[in-house]
Amino acid sequence: MAEAAGSPRPPAAAGRCVARARWRLLGQVLKKKHLKDVHLQQVSVRRFTSFNLFSIEDWNKEEETGSWVQYKSIFYPEYSVSLRFHNGVLNVEDILTSFDNTGNVCLWPSEEVLAYYCLKHNEMFRDLAVCELGGGMTCLAGLMVAISADVKEVLLTDGNEKAIKNVSDIITRNQNAGAFKAQKVSSCILRWDNETDVSQLEGHFDIVMCADCLFLDRYRASLVDAMKRLLQPSGKAMVFAPLRGNTLNQFCNLAEKAGFSIQRHENYDEHISNFHSKLKNEEKDTYEENLHYPFLLVLTKHR
Ligand SMILES: C[S@@+](CC[C@H](N)C(=O)[O-])C[C@H]1O[C@@H](n2cnc3c(N)ncnc32)[C@H](O)[C@@H]1O
Repeated sequence: MAEAAGSPRPPAAAGRCVARARWRLLGQVLKKKHLKDVHLQQVSVRRFTSFNLFSIEDWNKEEETGSWVQYKSIFYPEYSVSLRFHNGVLNVEDILTSFDNTGNVCLWPSEEVLAYYCLKHNEMFRDLAVCELGGGMTCLAGLMVAISADVKEVLLTDGNEKAIKNVSDIITRNQNAGAFKAQKVSSCILRWDNETDVSQLEGHFDIVMCADCLFLDRYRASLVDAMKRLLQPSGKAMVFAPLRGNTLNQFCNLAEKAGFSIQRHENYDEHISNFHSKLKNEEKDTYEENLHYPFLLVLTKHR
Protein backbone atom coordinates (compact mmCIF):
# COMPACT_ATOMS: atom_id res chain seq x y z
CA MET A 1 0.00 0.00 0.00
CA ALA A 2 1.48 3.40 -0.98
CA GLU A 3 2.31 5.87 1.80
CA ALA A 4 2.27 9.66 1.42
CA ALA A 5 5.88 10.90 1.70
CA GLY A 6 6.65 12.45 5.06
CA SER A 7 3.56 11.09 6.82
CA PRO A 8 4.37 7.55 7.83
CA ARG A 9 1.37 5.64 9.11
CA PRO A 10 1.78 4.24 12.67
CA PRO A 11 2.79 0.57 12.32
CA ALA A 12 -0.35 -0.78 14.04
CA ALA A 13 -2.70 1.23 11.77
CA ALA A 14 -0.70 0.28 8.68
CA GLY A 15 -0.85 -3.36 9.72
CA ARG A 16 -4.66 -3.18 10.16
CA CYS A 17 -5.00 -1.54 6.74
CA VAL A 18 -2.93 -4.24 5.01
CA ALA A 19 -4.87 -6.93 6.85
CA ARG A 20 -8.21 -5.41 5.71
CA ALA A 21 -7.00 -5.28 2.08
CA ARG A 22 -5.87 -8.89 2.25
CA TRP A 23 -9.17 -10.10 3.66
CA ARG A 24 -10.99 -8.18 0.92
CA LEU A 25 -8.85 -9.86 -1.70
CA LEU A 26 -9.20 -13.25 -0.08
CA GLY A 27 -12.96 -12.73 -0.13
CA GLN A 28 -12.79 -12.07 -3.86
CA VAL A 29 -10.73 -15.20 -4.40
CA LEU A 30 -13.09 -17.30 -2.34
CA LYS A 31 -16.09 -15.89 -4.21
CA LYS A 32 -14.16 -16.81 -7.37
CA LYS A 33 -14.21 -13.23 -8.63
CA HIS A 34 -10.74 -13.86 -9.99
CA LEU A 35 -12.08 -16.58 -12.22
CA LYS A 36 -13.86 -13.90 -14.22
CA ASP A 37 -10.43 -13.29 -15.65
CA VAL A 38 -10.56 -14.92 -19.04
CA HIS A 39 -7.04 -16.31 -18.76
CA LEU A 40 -7.52 -17.91 -15.36
CA GLN A 41 -10.71 -19.51 -16.59
CA GLN A 42 -8.65 -21.07 -19.31
CA VAL A 43 -6.08 -22.30 -16.79
CA SER A 44 -8.79 -24.34 -15.15
CA VAL A 45 -9.95 -25.94 -18.39
CA ARG A 46 -6.68 -25.79 -20.29
CA ARG A 47 -5.83 -28.96 -22.17
CA PHE A 48 -3.54 -28.07 -25.05
CA THR A 49 -0.09 -27.34 -23.62
CA SER A 50 2.64 -27.39 -26.22
CA PHE A 51 3.73 -27.31 -29.87
CA ASN A 52 6.47 -29.79 -28.87
CA LEU A 53 9.34 -27.51 -29.86
CA PHE A 54 11.53 -28.29 -26.84
CA SER A 55 12.47 -31.49 -25.07
CA ILE A 56 12.56 -31.50 -21.29
CA GLU A 57 15.36 -33.43 -19.63
CA ASP A 58 17.04 -33.90 -16.24
CA TRP A 59 14.05 -33.27 -13.98
CA ASN A 60 15.57 -32.28 -10.68
CA LYS A 61 13.01 -31.76 -7.92
CA GLU A 62 14.27 -29.17 -5.50
CA GLU A 63 13.27 -27.57 -2.18
CA GLU A 64 9.91 -25.78 -2.10
CA THR A 65 10.87 -23.32 -4.80
CA GLY A 66 10.54 -25.54 -7.83
CA SER A 67 12.10 -28.09 -10.15
CA TRP A 68 15.06 -27.50 -12.41
CA VAL A 69 14.90 -28.93 -15.91
CA GLN A 70 17.02 -28.75 -19.03
CA TYR A 71 15.00 -27.30 -21.92
CA LYS A 72 16.51 -28.28 -25.27
CA SER A 73 15.37 -27.08 -28.68
CA ILE A 74 14.25 -30.03 -30.79
CA PHE A 75 15.04 -28.25 -34.07
CA TYR A 76 18.29 -26.63 -32.88
CA PRO A 77 19.56 -29.14 -30.28
CA GLU A 78 22.82 -27.26 -29.81
CA TYR A 79 20.75 -24.79 -27.79
CA SER A 80 19.53 -25.70 -24.33
CA VAL A 81 18.97 -23.83 -21.10
CA SER A 82 18.32 -24.62 -17.43
CA LEU A 83 14.85 -23.53 -16.30
CA ARG A 84 13.09 -23.69 -12.97
CA PHE A 85 9.33 -24.15 -12.81
CA HIS A 86 7.36 -23.35 -9.68
CA ASN A 87 6.05 -26.44 -7.93
CA GLY A 88 2.37 -27.22 -7.89
CA VAL A 89 -0.45 -24.76 -7.46
CA LEU A 90 -0.22 -21.15 -6.26
CA ASN A 91 -0.62 -20.57 -2.56
CA VAL A 92 -2.94 -18.03 -0.95
CA GLU A 93 -0.02 -15.67 -0.26
CA ASP A 94 0.83 -15.57 -3.98
CA ILE A 95 -2.74 -14.76 -4.92
CA LEU A 96 -3.09 -12.10 -2.23
CA THR A 97 0.16 -10.29 -2.94
CA SER A 98 0.47 -10.47 -6.73
CA PHE A 99 -1.46 -8.54 -9.34
CA ASP A 100 -1.36 -11.21 -12.05
CA ASN A 101 -0.20 -14.78 -11.69
CA THR A 102 -0.79 -16.17 -15.17
CA GLY A 103 2.98 -16.22 -15.79
CA ASN A 104 3.54 -18.39 -12.70
CA VAL A 105 1.11 -21.09 -13.81
CA CYS A 106 2.98 -22.55 -16.76
CA LEU A 107 4.96 -21.67 -19.86
CA TRP A 108 2.29 -20.79 -22.42
CA PRO A 109 2.40 -22.09 -26.02
CA SER A 110 2.95 -18.58 -27.46
CA GLU A 111 6.14 -18.21 -25.40
CA GLU A 112 7.35 -21.57 -26.70
CA VAL A 113 6.69 -20.48 -30.29
CA LEU A 114 8.37 -17.08 -29.76
CA ALA A 115 11.40 -18.88 -28.28
CA TYR A 116 11.61 -21.22 -31.29
CA TYR A 117 11.24 -18.27 -33.69
CA CYS A 118 14.03 -16.35 -31.92
CA LEU A 119 16.38 -19.34 -32.26
CA LYS A 120 15.52 -19.81 -35.91
CA HIS A 121 16.10 -16.12 -36.72
CA ASN A 122 18.81 -15.37 -34.19
CA GLU A 123 20.85 -13.36 -36.72
CA MET A 124 18.26 -10.56 -36.48
CA PHE A 125 19.46 -9.70 -32.95
CA ARG A 126 23.11 -9.06 -33.82
CA ASP A 127 24.52 -6.11 -31.81
CA LEU A 128 21.06 -5.07 -30.62
CA ALA A 129 19.53 -4.32 -27.21
CA VAL A 130 16.54 -6.62 -26.63
CA CYS A 131 13.86 -6.60 -23.93
CA GLU A 132 11.25 -9.26 -23.21
CA LEU A 133 8.07 -7.94 -21.57
CA GLY A 134 5.68 -10.13 -19.56
CA GLY A 135 8.01 -13.13 -19.91
CA GLY A 136 6.51 -14.96 -16.93
CA MET A 137 8.46 -17.27 -14.60
CA THR A 138 10.92 -18.41 -17.30
CA CYS A 139 11.26 -15.67 -20.00
CA LEU A 140 12.22 -18.59 -22.27
CA ALA A 141 12.26 -16.50 -25.47
CA GLY A 142 14.63 -13.89 -24.06
CA LEU A 143 16.87 -16.68 -22.77
CA MET A 144 16.99 -18.22 -26.25
CA VAL A 145 18.16 -14.87 -27.63
CA ALA A 146 20.78 -14.68 -24.87
CA ILE A 147 22.22 -18.16 -25.53
CA SER A 148 22.15 -18.12 -29.33
CA ALA A 149 22.60 -14.58 -30.67
CA ASP A 150 25.48 -12.12 -30.91
CA VAL A 151 23.26 -9.69 -29.09
CA LYS A 152 24.51 -6.65 -27.17
CA GLU A 153 22.12 -6.88 -24.26
CA VAL A 154 19.07 -8.86 -23.12
CA LEU A 155 16.74 -7.64 -20.38
CA LEU A 156 14.13 -10.13 -19.13
CA THR A 157 11.12 -8.57 -17.44
CA ASP A 158 7.69 -9.17 -15.97
CA GLY A 159 5.42 -7.23 -13.64
CA ASN A 160 5.15 -10.14 -11.19
CA GLU A 161 7.72 -10.24 -8.41
CA LYS A 162 7.66 -14.01 -7.91
CA ALA A 163 8.15 -14.61 -11.63
CA ILE A 164 11.15 -12.27 -11.73
CA LYS A 165 12.78 -13.80 -8.65
CA ASN A 166 12.65 -17.12 -10.49
CA VAL A 167 14.03 -15.58 -13.69
CA SER A 168 16.88 -14.00 -11.73
CA ASP A 169 17.86 -17.43 -10.32
CA ILE A 170 17.62 -18.93 -13.82
CA ILE A 171 20.02 -16.27 -15.15
CA THR A 172 22.52 -16.94 -12.34
CA ARG A 173 22.47 -20.68 -12.95
CA ASN A 174 22.96 -20.36 -16.71
CA GLN A 175 25.58 -17.65 -16.30
CA ASN A 176 27.56 -19.95 -13.98
CA ALA A 177 27.27 -22.71 -16.60
CA GLY A 178 28.68 -20.34 -19.26
CA ALA A 179 25.52 -20.68 -21.37
CA PHE A 180 25.18 -17.09 -22.57
CA LYS A 181 26.53 -15.65 -25.79
CA ALA A 182 25.07 -12.22 -24.99
CA GLN A 183 27.40 -9.61 -23.54
CA LYS A 184 24.90 -8.67 -20.85
CA VAL A 185 21.86 -10.57 -19.50
CA SER A 186 19.77 -9.21 -16.64
CA SER A 187 16.23 -9.15 -15.26
CA CYS A 188 13.97 -6.69 -13.48
CA ILE A 189 10.37 -6.08 -12.51
CA LEU A 190 8.87 -3.95 -15.25
CA ARG A 191 5.20 -3.06 -15.06
CA TRP A 192 3.84 -1.55 -18.25
CA ASP A 193 1.59 0.75 -16.21
CA ASN A 194 4.32 1.95 -13.86
CA GLU A 195 5.74 5.32 -14.88
CA THR A 196 9.08 4.85 -13.10
CA ASP A 197 9.64 1.35 -14.50
CA VAL A 198 9.08 2.57 -18.05
CA SER A 199 10.70 6.02 -17.93
CA GLN A 200 14.04 4.77 -16.65
CA LEU A 201 14.45 2.58 -19.76
CA GLU A 202 12.90 5.02 -22.24
CA GLY A 203 14.28 4.72 -25.80
CA HIS A 204 16.78 2.03 -24.75
CA PHE A 205 15.83 -0.95 -26.93
CA ASP A 206 16.05 -1.93 -30.59
CA ILE A 207 13.63 -4.85 -30.13
CA VAL A 208 10.98 -5.50 -27.51
CA MET A 209 9.04 -8.75 -27.58
CA CYS A 210 6.28 -10.50 -25.70
CA ALA A 211 4.12 -13.63 -25.83
CA ASP A 212 0.49 -14.03 -24.82
CA CYS A 213 0.20 -10.65 -23.10
CA LEU A 214 -2.70 -9.08 -25.04
CA PHE A 215 -5.64 -10.59 -23.19
CA LEU A 216 -5.70 -8.27 -20.16
CA ASP A 217 -8.24 -5.54 -20.97
CA ARG A 218 -6.95 -3.40 -18.12
CA TYR A 219 -3.32 -3.32 -19.25
CA ARG A 220 -3.54 -3.47 -23.07
CA ALA A 221 -3.22 0.28 -23.56
CA SER A 222 -0.29 0.53 -21.12
CA LEU A 223 1.45 -2.35 -22.92
CA VAL A 224 1.24 -0.42 -26.21
CA ASP A 225 2.47 2.74 -24.50
CA ALA A 226 5.36 0.92 -22.77
CA MET A 227 6.45 -0.67 -26.06
CA LYS A 228 6.46 2.67 -27.81
CA ARG A 229 8.43 4.40 -25.06
CA LEU A 230 10.97 1.61 -24.50
CA LEU A 231 11.86 1.43 -28.19
CA GLN A 232 14.40 3.69 -29.85
CA PRO A 233 13.04 5.69 -32.85
CA SER A 234 13.22 2.96 -35.51
CA GLY A 235 12.73 0.06 -33.10
CA LYS A 236 10.47 -2.95 -33.58
CA ALA A 237 8.19 -4.96 -31.33
CA MET A 238 7.68 -8.67 -31.97
CA VAL A 239 4.49 -10.06 -30.51
CA PHE A 240 3.16 -13.63 -30.50
CA ALA A 241 -0.40 -14.11 -29.27
CA PRO A 242 -3.56 -16.06 -30.10
CA LEU A 243 -6.70 -14.27 -31.23
CA ARG A 244 -8.47 -14.88 -27.88
CA GLY A 245 -11.76 -13.47 -29.06
CA ASN A 246 -11.23 -9.90 -30.12
CA THR A 247 -8.25 -9.16 -27.87
CA LEU A 248 -5.55 -9.34 -30.56
CA ASN A 249 -7.58 -7.02 -32.82
CA GLN A 250 -8.09 -4.58 -29.97
CA PHE A 251 -4.34 -4.50 -29.37
CA CYS A 252 -3.70 -3.83 -33.09
CA ASN A 253 -6.19 -0.94 -33.08
CA LEU A 254 -4.48 0.66 -30.09
CA ALA A 255 -1.02 0.13 -31.59
CA GLU A 256 -2.05 1.77 -34.88
CA LYS A 257 -3.51 4.74 -33.02
CA ALA A 258 -0.20 5.04 -31.15
CA GLY A 259 1.64 5.41 -34.47
CA PHE A 260 2.97 1.87 -35.01
CA SER A 261 2.71 0.26 -38.42
CA ILE A 262 1.76 -3.40 -38.08
CA GLN A 263 2.55 -6.48 -40.11
CA ARG A 264 0.29 -9.35 -39.15
CA HIS A 265 1.41 -12.88 -40.03
CA GLU A 266 -0.72 -15.98 -39.73
CA ASN A 267 1.69 -18.28 -41.59
CA TYR A 268 5.15 -17.31 -40.43
CA ASP A 269 6.74 -20.74 -40.22
CA GLU A 270 6.18 -23.89 -42.24
CA HIS A 271 6.60 -26.31 -39.36
CA ILE A 272 4.27 -24.41 -37.04
CA SER A 273 1.66 -24.04 -39.83
CA ASN A 274 1.79 -27.77 -40.59
CA PHE A 275 1.54 -28.70 -36.93
CA HIS A 276 -1.37 -26.26 -36.52
CA SER A 277 -3.25 -27.92 -39.44
CA LYS A 278 -2.60 -31.36 -37.99
CA LEU A 279 -3.85 -30.29 -34.55
CA LYS A 280 -6.97 -28.76 -36.08
CA ASN A 281 -7.76 -32.03 -37.85
CA GLU A 282 -6.66 -34.59 -35.30
CA GLU A 283 -7.02 -32.92 -31.89
CA LYS A 284 -10.42 -31.33 -32.26
CA ASP A 285 -11.28 -31.98 -28.59
CA THR A 286 -8.23 -30.30 -27.15
CA TYR A 287 -6.92 -27.76 -29.66
CA GLU A 288 -8.82 -24.50 -30.12
CA GLU A 289 -7.37 -22.24 -32.78
CA ASN A 290 -8.79 -19.12 -31.14
CA LEU A 291 -7.04 -19.83 -27.83
CA HIS A 292 -3.95 -21.69 -28.87
CA TYR A 293 -2.62 -20.68 -32.28
CA PRO A 294 -0.23 -17.70 -31.96
CA PHE A 295 -0.24 -15.03 -34.65
CA LEU A 296 2.92 -13.01 -35.20
CA LEU A 297 2.69 -9.21 -35.13
CA VAL A 298 5.65 -7.04 -36.06
CA LEU A 299 5.19 -3.44 -34.95
CA THR A 300 7.42 -0.70 -36.35
CA LYS A 301 7.65 2.58 -34.53
CA HIS A 302 7.26 5.64 -36.75
CA ARG A 303 6.75 8.61 -34.51
C1 LIG B 1 -0.23 -15.30 -19.85
S1 LIG B 1 1.18 -14.73 -19.02
C2 LIG B 1 2.40 -14.97 -20.24
C3 LIG B 1 3.73 -15.31 -19.65
C4 LIG B 1 4.74 -15.80 -20.68
N1 LIG B 1 4.95 -14.79 -21.69
C5 LIG B 1 4.26 -17.08 -21.30
O1 LIG B 1 3.62 -16.98 -22.38
O2 LIG B 1 4.50 -18.16 -20.74
C6 LIG B 1 1.03 -12.93 -19.01
C7 LIG B 1 2.20 -12.26 -18.29
O3 LIG B 1 2.02 -10.84 -18.34
C8 LIG B 1 2.42 -10.30 -17.10
N2 LIG B 1 1.72 -9.02 -16.91
C9 LIG B 1 0.39 -8.82 -16.84
N3 LIG B 1 0.11 -7.51 -16.66
C10 LIG B 1 1.31 -6.87 -16.61
C11 LIG B 1 1.69 -5.51 -16.43
N4 LIG B 1 0.79 -4.55 -16.26
N5 LIG B 1 3.01 -5.21 -16.45
C12 LIG B 1 3.93 -6.20 -16.61
N6 LIG B 1 3.63 -7.50 -16.77
C13 LIG B 1 2.33 -7.84 -16.77
C14 LIG B 1 2.01 -11.34 -16.08
O4 LIG B 1 2.74 -11.23 -14.87
C15 LIG B 1 2.29 -12.64 -16.82
O5 LIG B 1 3.57 -13.13 -16.56
